[in-house]
Amino acid sequence: MTLNCVKINNLKCLLLCLFTTFFVLVGCAPGQLGLNNSGQYRNGMVVCAYPDAAQVGLDILKKGGNAVDAAVAVQFALTVTLPEAGNVGGGGFMVYRAGDGKTSTLDFREKGPAAANVNMYLDSAGNVIPDMSLYTHKASGVPGSVDGMFEAHRKYGKLKWADLVEPAIKLARNGFKITKHLANDLNRTAEQFKKLNPGSNYLVKDGEWKEGDLLVQEDLAKTFEQIRDKGRDGFYDGPVADLIVDEMKQGNGLITKADLKNYHAVWRDALIGNYKDYKVITMPPPSSGGIALLQLLKSVEPYPIKRWGYNQDSTIRLIVEAERRVYADRSKYLGDPDFYKVPVDSLLKPAYITSRMKTFSWDAATPSTSIQPGTFVGHESDQTTHYSIVDRFGNAVSITTTLNDSFGSRIFVSGAGFLLNNEMDDFSSKPGVPNMYGLIGGKANSIQPGKRMLSSMTPTIVEKDGKLFMIVGTPGGSTIITSVFQTILNVIEFNQGMQQAVASKRFHSQWLPDEVTIEKDGVDSVTVNKLQSRGYKVVSRESIGRVDAILKTQWGYYEGGADPRGDDTKLGW
Ligand code: GLY
Repeated sequence: MTLNCVKINNLKCLLLCLFTTFFVLVGCAPGQLGLNNSGQYRNGMVVCAYPDAAQVGLDILKKGGNAVDAAVAVQFALTVTLPEAGNVGGGGFMVYRAGDGKTSTLDFREKGPAAANVNMYLDSAGNVIPDMSLYTHKASGVPGSVDGMFEAHRKYGKLKWADLVEPAIKLARNGFKITKHLANDLNRTAEQFKKLNPGSNYLVKDGEWKEGDLLVQEDLAKTFEQIRDKGRDGFYDGPVADLIVDEMKQGNGLITKADLKNYHAVWRDALIGNYKDYKVITMPPPSSGGIALLQLLKSVEPYPIKRWGYNQDSTIRLIVEAERRVYADRSKYLGDPDFYKVPVDSLLKPAYITSRMKTFSWDAATPSTSIQPGTFVGHESDQTTHYSIVDRFGNAVSITTTLNDSFGSRIFVSGAGFLLNNEMDDFSSKPGVPNMYGLIGGKANSIQPGKRMLSSMTPTIVEKDGKLFMIVGTPGGSTIITSVFQTILNVIEFNQGMQQAVASKRFHSQWLPDEVTIEKDGVDSVTVNKLQSRGYKVVSRESIGRVDAILKTQWGYYEGGADPRGDDTKLGW
């Protein structure tokens, strides 16, 4: 009996040794042979803000579509299922990294209409008219999303355009079951929908929306049929364009047929920087996010934050002081590069960044009033949504897209079933006067016809050793930049997995107002006391951002991080 037991144990041991030796020799993990490893996937992943839209993206990947095909389908599916931010009436940015390492970015940000002008939101005394850049027909920039998707597909798409639009038509026509979040958001906004869209019952029902209610959007299905059949012209020309212009005329808006026809997304070289051994591929202006992210990473790089630890007193103080200086620069130097010479190189010079951090003291917070935008020699809503996608060819897409506020201007295009953006508020209505996010700006971001308003959207892809490492981005207005920054640090410095890095509590500071916003229970009371004793004003907030990200593990698997703050969903195969 004893003898048999020893034999069996020896046999087990032998098999285990053979198994281990085999994997060590071939240099891979068991999962790489096709076994699925606890939520990690080999062939591709979609992480986005709504379950039905994530499913649409995964279906496209499984049908042989690439990451850009899936992105087009997800963008349109989110328009149906996430009316707070998914859109055809808004705009966004795409950062793309092909499986072979080539990079590009697509700017499909909205533009000021031809009739826009620098003083359009000021009264006769020169004061900003409250809410005019937010909840009126004049709040909308010329939408860029449909042209952006069409252009991305033209350059990189593999499947037929019509097949990528079809899932959105089905979701809109057949309806989908709404989540609790969406029900709450619709109920919260119902009165404003009714006020701004008299006679319409779009997205409004008798009584309250409840989780599980079916939301059907027939007008939107018809709009998508035009887009399916006629591509970009299905939106910028023909019946949908007529409906947009009729809506504008009826509400004294500015967008004309010519504005729509003239809208074109722009390919721009990616903004590339380094943090330690990592290469960071991000969005250039008119995003302020890419430059700010690279400045922030460089500002903290020399300090031992790994040793200090996640959300510890020293880590927070260092990061807040870096953010204070970077957001001050944003207010002066960032704008649409087609209209204003953004001093990208100067802002990213290591010597400049080091000199900015020299004025920081460990003794006390630097008052924001004492920080001005830097000088250098030789001038040169959470209501957005992000999705990260990777396909089995290793192509990676990072897209952030927005209507600006939740449900944009809350004004629908009658008969076309979609919401208009209120992105004009991202311009500086008047130098020094804060916008919806408390951000201030000046000449670089002043309103001009045809100009793109400055954005904080920061879709980003990170490489390590020449290989894809992370795809990351988030909504959150001015907090976008700091959330992306902290998520990257959570993985690289604090050894968090992708899901933990996304779920971890965040904090935010942006020069003005001079305060540190910390997510509820994000930092213990001892640390809060230490911050306050050094002169930091600490404010608590329910939640900051909704990061959706994908990490490529050392074993070659994709591991998703879907933000638990929303309905965000990660699916892979
Ligand atoms: N609308 C928010 C942003 O683009 O930053």
